[in-house]
This record gives sequence, structure tokens and C-alpha cells, in this order.
Amino acid sequence: MLPETTIAELREIASRYPEARSGLLPMLHLVQSVEGRVTPEGIEACAEVLGISAAEVSGVATFYTMYKRRPVGEHLVGVCTTTLCAVMGGDAIFERLSEHLGVGNDETTADGRVTLERIECNAACDYAPVMTVNWEFVDQQTPESAVELVDDLRAGRERHSTRGPRLGTWKETERVLAGFPDGRADEGPAAGAPSLAGLTIARERGWTAPPSPDGPAALGPSSAAGQPETALAAAEEADTARAESETLQEETDE
Ligand code: FES
Repeated sequence: MLPETTIAELREIASRYPEARSGLLPMLHLVQSVEGRVTPEGIEACAEVLGISAAEVSGVATFYTMYKRRPVGEHLVGVCTTTLCAVMGGDAIFERLSEHLGVGNDETTADGRVTLERIECNAACDYAPVMTVNWEFVDQQTPESAVELVDDLRAGRERHSTRGPRLGTWKETERVLAGFPDGRADEGPAAGAPSLAGLTIARERGWTAPPSPDGPAALGPSSAAGQPETALAAAEEADTARAESETLQEETDE
């Protein structure tokens, strides 16, 4: 039986949408933030709040990989082993972590601290090989740095995402995904140099987007892509991006 406060929050989520059932995905995240997984009780509660069948809720919960039917540890550690990350070291990282933690894919350590899983491409290939902790990015890892990371998590030492906030627990992150902010949204860098390299090159060369026939005027260099100025400033200072720019310039000149 879910706590009454959780049932009230499930109703609150459903009320945010013109069609209540549109709230099912964040509702399932809320269930996970309380139960540590999608439980039969959680499915029943969502179904009752939305006025749909448990089978319909279950169909959604079993479709998406972010919903877990087995208990997740305090931290969910993902290793991208899709092709680019795999060849850049993702496979080696997973093997090392699996050996170090004594668990396989989708398994949890005996102390309940870490669940290890293979993840598919997270659209962060420019930071390969990439890992995630509770869905936050930890970029450009090695087998050694990955072991250090999980050891810190198991010891309760504070760690930060490389492009985000300090890392909380999986349940805390699940509550954020349910639509209840934790106040950490502005912690850490919003974007890194590799992701902004194209923008940096465009600004250096004075490139702008062509005007849209039915949209607002083309974005100029100072507002390109609507990126926050803080991120742009960080990008301009990034040696990596600058080096890539120079390389591209040389190739173009040739
Ligand atoms: S292949 Fe790993 S993030 Fe794309």
C-alpha cells in the first residue's frame, strides 16, 4: 500500500495534464522514487488515479527501460556499450566494473549500493565512453576512473556529474523526473566544449542560420541557438573546441 502522501502526489501529477493519463510516465517515476521499482501496488494506484486498467499501466511500465520491475540499488550505474562508446572503451569499462562489483548486467551489489546496467546510446557520443549515475552523465571514463567512481558511491563520498549537479540517489532523481525539483537544476555546467564546438566555429566564421520563411528572423551570432550566454562564454574559453576549430579550418583551406 502506497503512503497517502504519495497517492496525493500521483493525483497532483495527473491534474497537470489536460488528459490525466498523459501523466502516467511521471507518475511511474514517482512510484519508483518511493518503492525503488514499479511495484504491483504502484501499478494499481496509478490505474485507480487515472481510471484505466492495471494492464494498461503495466503495458507502459514494461515497455520503457527506465522503469524497473526489480529493486534498484541506491545508485543506478549505467555504462554505454553502444558501438561508439564500446570501441572507445565502454566494453572494457563494463567488464572491469562487473568484475570489481561482482555483478552482471541489471544486477545489484550485495550491499544494495549499486545496480549495474548496460545502456544504449545516450546521445552523448562526443564524450565517449560515457557512463551515467542515476541518469546524470559522467563523461569520458576509463576502467580505472569507473572503479574509483563506484567505490566513492559505495562509500558515500560526494561525486558530481561532469555536466550536471552533485549526484544524489536514484530515488531522489526519480522524484525529480516525476516533476518535483530538488533545487539542483542550476548546479554544474549546462553544456561542455565538445557539444558547443560547432557553435564556436560558426561564431568565429560569422556563420548564421538562414532566415526561416515562417519563423522569427535568423539567429545572429550573439544569440545563436538560444544558448545561455554563460554556456557560450564557457565554450569560447574551451581549448578543446578551439583546437578542433583550427583543425577544421586547416582541412577546409586544403
Ligand atoms: S554510443 Fe555511447 S553515447 Fe552514443
